[in-house]
Amino acid sequence: MKKIAVLVSGGGSNLQSIIDSVESGYLRLKIAVVASNKEEAYGLTRARNHGIPTEILRHGDYPTREEFETKLIETLDGYGVDLVALAGFMRVLTPLFVNHYHQRIMNIHPAILPSFPGTHGQKQALDYGVRFSGCTTHFVDEGTDTGPIILQAIVPVLPDDTEESLGSRILKEEHRIYPESLKLWSEGRLLIDGRKVTILPGARTKD
Ligand code: GAR
Repeated sequence: MKKIAVLVSGGGSNLQSIIDSVESGYLRLKIAVVASNKEEAYGLTRARNHGIPTEILRHGDYPTREEFETKLIETLDGYGVDLVALAGFMRVLTPLFVNHYHQRIMNIHPAILPSFPGTHGQKQALDYGVRFSGCTTHFVDEGTDTGPIILQAIVPVLPDDTEESLGSRILKEEHRIYPESLKLWSEGRLLIDGRKVTILPGARTKD
């Protein structure tokens, strides 16, 4: 069974959706470790509640991004992970980390990429005045939210929306497409060719 690490910096509701999908049998993979750059991240508590090992690496303890990432790589490789899933991990990753896990880092972003990359994707969408926003799962490359797109889900922007109300409707979709993307990956059904990700058909089941 494939092993993943999930990296969190905050509440970890996406992590929870992945844990629930594993426990329900929808996702057949092992969450080998949950790591965070913030010891107060609630995502760590969620992991502990489900008996998943946790690691805390405070980025402030390292003089450079590269030194932080070298330690992170050493830690994650110690668990033998096949894929790193970013779930609200609020640290920019340098080419050192991205190249080490070439095409083996997945991220979820709260906007329809390539619109509104970076932080506060929900607020950027509201401020711009778009009628629809949503979320995107993608593989991570050296840019900020520029990697090959896996799945996207559309969420309408309502006239009275605040960052919070829009954000919570987007989150619902995030909790659906992140486990789905991981499922496709775990079944070996994601073929990356340049910018494009082809979703291969699943195994046929007999009637
Ligand atoms: C999610 O909305 C995720 O898309 C976003 O952070 C939130 C984490 O929530 N990620 C980014 O903005 C990355 N640029 P969670 O901790 O409850 O999963």
